[in-house]
Amino acid sequence: MPLYKIINFSPKTQIYIWKIDEPYAQLREEVQLNDRNEIRLNGMKSELHRRGFLSVRKILHENGYSDFDLTYDAFGKPHLKDGKHLSITHSHEFSAVIFSDQNIGIDMEKQRDKIKILDYKFAEFEMTWLDKNAADYMRKLTVVWGVKEAIFKIRNEVGISFNDHIFVQPFEMQHLQTDVILNFNETRMTFSVYFEEMENFTLVYVLEK
Ligand SMILES: CC(C)(COP(=O)(O)OP(=O)(O)OC[C@H]1O[C@@H](n2cnc3c(N)ncnc32)[C@H](O)[C@@H]1OP(=O)(O)O)[C@@H](O)C(=O)NCCC(=O)NCCS
Repeated sequence: MPLYKIINFSPKTQIYIWKIDEPYAQLREEVQLNDRNEIRLNGMKSELHRRGFLSVRKILHENGYSDFDLTYDAFGKPHLKDGKHLSITHSHEFSAVIFSDQNIGIDMEKQRDKIKILDYKFAEFEMTWLDKNAADYMRKLTVVWGVKEAIFKIRNEVGISFNDHIFVQPFEMQHLQTDVILNFNETRMTFSVYFEEMENFTLVYVLEK
């Protein structure tokens, strides 16, 4: 079943998760793209990426939209023509879209041990409260990474640094939520973070408080 899960977070916010088990040819046949996105698709080298891109359009269909309702700004942030907010992610065989009345961000990441080698690049603050030797260090780091990607998708501003401006607050995996503070350009904003794991993937979504 390609539509893997719907999270009815609130009447105003829903998350759709797709497990991409259709072959590329099937998706290609089922999805109609506008001219701009047709060109983008044809420029994608990896079939996995193309399937991810098309599966997002399948999610749009589930919600009564099509590719013709979607535009991208100069930074690559997607917008729906009716003014509803959305945020998009795709990772290997999963894709997910969050729809909301407010500005939101989503990210999905495959859990990989190699994230531990990169911890100093994006989790300087979080390493003050994370335990490097804990069994769940990699899983927590994956959440932290996802939060920062999701914040980037919400704010869409040049100059935001994962280490210098985004601070994920301590959490335990079983809590499935935390807060994150963005301190950028003399503005301090707090966001609610929600996360869950599925089949060695981590889904994170972030909403302004
Ligand atoms: C844009 C970015 C957030 C995308 O994240 P990703 O994990 O590579 O890929 P995902 O599949 O999760 O997300 C891709 C989607 O994000 C959306 N997106 C791209 N740029 C965006 C932006 N500026 N704002 C909001 N959303 C954006 C798009 O919808 C895109 O999918 P689509 O083009 O197929 O529709 C990421 O590439 C990036 O630039 N991150 C910030 C870089 C950074 O500071 N890194 C620090 C390293 S230490």
